[in-house]
Amino acid sequence: MTDSANQMWGGRFAAGPDAIMQAINASIGFDRRLYAQDIRASRAHAAMLAAQGILSDSDAAAIGEGLLTVLSEIEGGTFPFRVDLEDIHMNVEARLKEIIGEPAGRLHTARSRNDQVAVDFRLWVRDQCDAAVAGIEALMRAFVAQAEAGADWVMPGFTHLQTAQPVTWGHHMMAYVEMLARDRGRFMDARARMNECPLGAAALAGTGFPIDRHATAAALGFDRPTANSLDSVSDRDFALEFLAAASICAMHLSRFAEELVIWSSAQFRFVRLSDRWTTGSSIMPQKKNPDAAELLRAKLGRILGATVALFTVMKGLALTYSKDMQEDKEQVFDAADSLMLGLAAMTGMVADMTANRDALAAAAASGFATATDLADWLVRELGLPFRDAHHVTGTLVARAEAQGIDLPDLTLAEMQDVHPGIRADVFAVLGVENSVRSRMSHGGTAPDRVREQIARWKALLP
Ligand code: ARG
Repeated sequence: MTDSANQMWGGRFAAGPDAIMQAINASIGFDRRLYAQDIRASRAHAAMLAAQGILSDSDAAAIGEGLLTVLSEIEGGTFPFRVDLEDIHMNVEARLKEIIGEPAGRLHTARSRNDQVAVDFRLWVRDQCDAAVAGIEALMRAFVAQAEAGADWVMPGFTHLQTAQPVTWGHHMMAYVEMLARDRGRFMDARARMNECPLGAAALAGTGFPIDRHATAAALGFDRPTANSLDSVSDRDFALEFLAAASICAMHLSRFAEELVIWSSAQFRFVRLSDRWTTGSSIMPQKKNPDAAELLRAKLGRILGATVALFTVMKGLALTYSKDMQEDKEQVFDAADSLMLGLAAMTGMVADMTANRDALAAAAASGFATATDLADWLVRELGLPFRDAHHVTGTLVARAEAQGIDLPDLTLAEMQDVHPGIRADVFAVLGVENSVRSRMSHGGTAPDRVREQIARWKALLP
């Protein structure tokens, strides 16, 4: 082996790589984030090799100790990362050799970087699933608290961003709790599915050494070893599932972010965002910009971009490992960072925002929000077919609109002019409070229903 050839695989190489080859090949710039997982998996591997009699106890002990030294060097910021050593796996092993000498060379027995990176990355993504679940639960609690504070506050419910029917603030907040609960479930499902250990698949075919894959799987907190060695080193489904779950969650965050942008505007004034989550303008002194909400609205672009990127990397790759797959990590790292930051920012914004009860109520009472209640009254009290009731109500809306007033401001005489059967008690259903109170169907917006959902989630959430 010449000096310039690689000390890990340089046996058949006469010369070292071109500098540009080294630059395109190296992953140490980003996969150093896997150091803790790499060391943990190596320690489990060494202990198993010793238990199986493949490694002497003294070598295994030296390796185990040496790896802890490497760990503390990395965490202490003194570890000499070397780009010529390509990736985290070879950096750790080379440093281990400097520290403990010859036994370091025995660590890689019955293992390959292919199963090594597969297990390291799985451990990392699994931790991120747990972090996502915790972040989502914190946000769910913030929404539940908002819902509880205004369970019966009326606001306009929208379709097409046009006033549709009055709803309650609590109901709107709890809609996000449902969305986030599904997000949480997706991360939990993905975690359960990815919880099989690929370590021991070796390069691709398994190994002739009498290893115990069940032991390493258990030591690393996996449910079981993976069943097929070829699949083990070529599978990145776990990363794709994480990205897909992250994309859907970020899409949900973007929807509330958009509502916050609209609601915090001077035209809506539905909510006031805290100073902690807004910025001012250097030229317009009156401005309070919802920057955090806008950035959250944008984060999905990044996370979905990572998802598409990794799908594109994996598409059409023949089994098993190909170096293409090294391009998996940066996408997942960036998406995970964006999601965790986004969840934390949204949790802060939701916890700190103040709903403007009066503005919500005023908006609920305008825009003919109780037109459906009027139509329902005509059906219930006068026996009109719903289609006819819809027509009568539409005529009344047009008359009110022509006068620049709302439905409850029409006189009884004007109403009877459109349909003579209408009675004075119709005015009761034209009030927004009565409207929301009447929506008692399962999942409906009635404050009593909303309070049931709040109680249910308070009991379910940790
Ligand atoms: N740095 C590599 C990666 O991230 C590790 C696996 C390398 N395996 C190989 N056969 N070259 O994918």
